[in-house]
Amino acid sequence: MISEIKKIGIIGAGQMGNGIAHVCSLSKYEVILNDLDKDNLDKGMATIQGNMARQVSKGAISEEQMQAALDNITPSLALDSMSEVDLVIEAATEHEETKRKIFSAVTPILRPEALIASNTSSLSITRLAAATDRAEQFIGIHFMNPVPVMKLIELVRGIATDENTFKTAKQFADNLGKTVAVSEDFPAFMVNRILLPMINEAVYTLYEGVGNVQSIDTAMRLGANHPMGPLQLADFIGLDTCLSIMQVLYEGLADTKYRPCPLLVKYVEAGWLGRKSQRGFYDYRGEVPIPTR
Ligand SMILES: NC(=O)c1ccc[n+]([C@@H]2O[C@H](COP(=O)([O-])OP(=O)(O)OC[C@H]3O[C@@H](n4cnc5c(N)ncnc54)[C@H](O)[C@@H]3O)[C@@H](O)[C@H]2O)c1
Repeated sequence: MISEIKKIGIIGAGQMGNGIAHVCSLSKYEVILNDLDKDNLDKGMATIQGNMARQVSKGAISEEQMQAALDNITPSLALDSMSEVDLVIEAATEHEETKRKIFSAVTPILRPEALIASNTSSLSITRLAAATDRAEQFIGIHFMNPVPVMKLIELVRGIATDENTFKTAKQFADNLGKTVAVSEDFPAFMVNRILLPMINEAVYTLYEGVGNVQSIDTAMRLGANHPMGPLQLADFIGLDTCLSIMQVLYEGLADTKYRPCPLLVKYVEAGWLGRKSQRGFYDYRGEVPIPTR
């Protein structure tokens, strides 16, 4: 069984996948960054380079550290590249069927002793683990966005996760310099169980015309001392991800208080997914973000 991680495979090179690759490569792990979409993979690699260059200009890392970290990342479009890794971190779209398909495709390629983790924001770790051939070697490693900045990792054991897997994941999180909070395997775990209903309520506040985008965000920044408004934060997370998490809470806890706001649904149906699609509660296509309502 693996008790020390050296080589990591990351599946999904979007906002989270490229952030995870960024911090792992800087901590001297060898990283394979995989995506099925070439544009997203190229964009992910470019984002890592841009973010590391910013860290160099701020003096947070040296030019040599950046170069060494970039050399540690190998981009990949095929899952065959996962045959040698010690740990796979799945960071693909927040959609259970997509994740299940990834696990069925990747498990035959992995070494039997390799560990598997999901970065899911909300889905059951126990259920995802059951889509693999190694539920005892499966764990939730939930990074926060943006990964290079945010200190927390939620570690989530499924019902079958064994102690060696937990200890190895904890050591990995420690090596990245992150702080771990352990959560039981319940819908959306801890951070999103608390955060997303607040964001959904902000969208209801907008939907019901209590305030506009600007006033709701200003109210929560200055009135509750939040570093960014809830609608700005929703754009940052991705409105599709926000909606998926609310659906998981609504269905998983069977309580109408988690009903996703119809306006959130409408934005997602329009393809207005927030920053990643250039438009959400704000329009990011110009010099400064403009509220869309
Ligand atoms: N956005 C956040 O704030 C946040 C925070 C913590 C965790 N998460 C979780 O991280 C995961 C990824 O979220 P994100 O914000 O990076 O999404 P994203 O939309 O930015 O990226 C998802 C990536 O997965 C890729 N993908 C989809 N199917 C794939 C497959 N079969 N094989 C390989 N790649 C595939 C897509 O091409 C895309 O590049 C989700 O589970 C999400 O819930 C998100």
